[in-house]
Amino acid sequence: MRAAIARLIREPLIRLGARAVFSLLNPAWRTRALWDISDRPQYLLGMAAAVELAKRQGATAFSAIEFGVAGGTGLCAMQADAEMLERETGMQIKVYGFDTAGGLPEFIGDHRDHPDLWQPGDYPMDFDKLRKRLTSRTELVLGNVRDTVHSFFDRYSPPPLGFISFDLDLYSSTKAALEIFDAPHRRMLLHVPCYFDDIHFIANYRFAGELLAIDEFNERSAGVKLDRWHGVKNGRPFPERYFLDQMYVAHDIAALSTLGAEASRARAQLPLQA
Ligand SMILES: C[S@@+](CC[C@H](N)C(=O)[O-])C[C@H]1O[C@@H](n2cnc3c(N)ncnc32)[C@H](O)[C@@H]1O
Repeated sequence: MRAAIARLIREPLIRLGARAVFSLLNPAWRTRALWDISDRPQYLLGMAAAVELAKRQGATAFSAIEFGVAGGTGLCAMQADAEMLERETGMQIKVYGFDTAGGLPEFIGDHRDHPDLWQPGDYPMDFDKLRKRLTSRTELVLGNVRDTVHSFFDRYSPPPLGFISFDLDLYSSTKAALEIFDAPHRRMLLHVPCYFDDIHFIANYRFAGELLAIDEFNERSAGVKLDRWHGVKNGRPFPERYFLDQMYVAHDIAALSTLGAEASRARAQLPLQA
């Protein structure tokens, strides 16, 4: 009987019906994150996980970042879910959107920036229209990320990085954005959920675009490593959602190593159990 109910719940129509009912009931944040009840479920998933991770570390605030804002649909969804999470969990969430404001910048001139998919100037921002939709929670960091990422921590004094969406399309831009993990005075949670928007088209491959930027980042960075979010599909009512394969986690190896040493020292000081 139990197995039959479990099987029934996995049927698409039943699941979709359940989600529709849940949505009407205005459920709490964990249910929203689990059932993809959001305009950007990948952002809610990342930020909800960051709430749990921050709490575990004793942090009271974190930054959620969108690299690549364009018209602001994603940024406004991030802002709305950050507001809901803060209201329900007490975790303070500051939102930042990085963009040139003028659309995609110049390409580097070979296959790596995917000239097969995009061209310079694509996705310009309507700044005045977007600004009216943003609240005091959200700041736009305007300019080429190549120039804005390094001064981000000094200039904005943000809370530690908690969730990042990379949606800059280009290899060159994503490579520059990933330098946020090496920026002076950078602060981050030990594990930072990330979402990469442009790795699931048939034209995406490991030698161009965001996938190449991730591989190169892992080769050159000793302090932080990016890996797939292992087990992200487990226990989710919609494990087939495309974006789950685009969820990564940035791990602060440098800080985790120190923790390891401290934990060992602490363990060494403990009296042996009888
Ligand atoms: C696909 S759009 C982002 C869409 C947005 N995330 C959404 O969901 O509505 C990509 C954006 O990345 C921005 N971008 C790309 N490279 C950039 C760079 N080097 N510096 C700043 N912004 C960049 C472009 O201006 C463009 O608006």
